[in-house]
Amino acid sequence: MDAEAALIERQEQFRYALASLASGVSVVTCVGDSEVDHAMTASAVTSVSLDPPLVLACVSRTARFWEAISSVEHWGVSVLSARAQQHAQWLATPGRPLAGQLDRVPHRRSTRGYALLDESLAWLECTTSEVVRAGDHDIFIGSVDCATRSEANDPLLYWRREYYALEK
Ligand SMILES: Cc1cc2nc3c(=O)[nH]c(=O)nc-3n(C[C@H](O)[C@H](O)[C@H](O)COP(=O)(O)O)c2cc1C
Repeated sequence: MDAEAALIERQEQFRYALASLASGVSVVTCVGDSEVDHAMTASAVTSVSLDPPLVLACVSRTARFWEAISSVEHWGVSVLSARAQQHAQWLATPGRPLAGQLDRVPHRRSTRGYALLDESLAWLECTTSEVVRAGDHDIFIGSVDCATRSEANDPLLYWRREYYALEK
């Protein structure tokens, strides 16, 4: 096996193993120049610190969202309800048109102007405090200006490349 084939196999093994890590699903949002809405489905969103309140979002440097979040200070996280599965799928679709991408995704505006999705369990309003380069992703550490929870209690989960709803 040549070096390139070995690298691809290692990457596949990495992906295959890490797909076992069940996660919640969020949509990270910001608003760019000319008031364009940017949004990306993300499972790599994690709580980091309580005092001060910090969260992180890992964003691929090849995602269009990376350019958007890199050029703003403020961004939001909507922690999705299982009812938002279609929206998660849509906002993870490579090459979807950016203009109007939230037209069929019910949302409201944060005080900073970016979208927060209605079908969510919680919302975080963040200001970038640090960006850490990590391989082909950047880790955006956000200071949480406001954290709120909805009445919904039906998280959207992702495991081994499929969506699930929680059953008790
Ligand atoms: C369930 C799920 C979770 C994802 N989590 C992340 C993530 O944490 N970070 C990331 O950069 N991409 C993640 N992606 C991939 C992006 O959503 C996808 O590449 C998207 O098309 C990027 O859009 P953009 O290029 O328009 O910004 C995830 C995809 C899915 C389906």
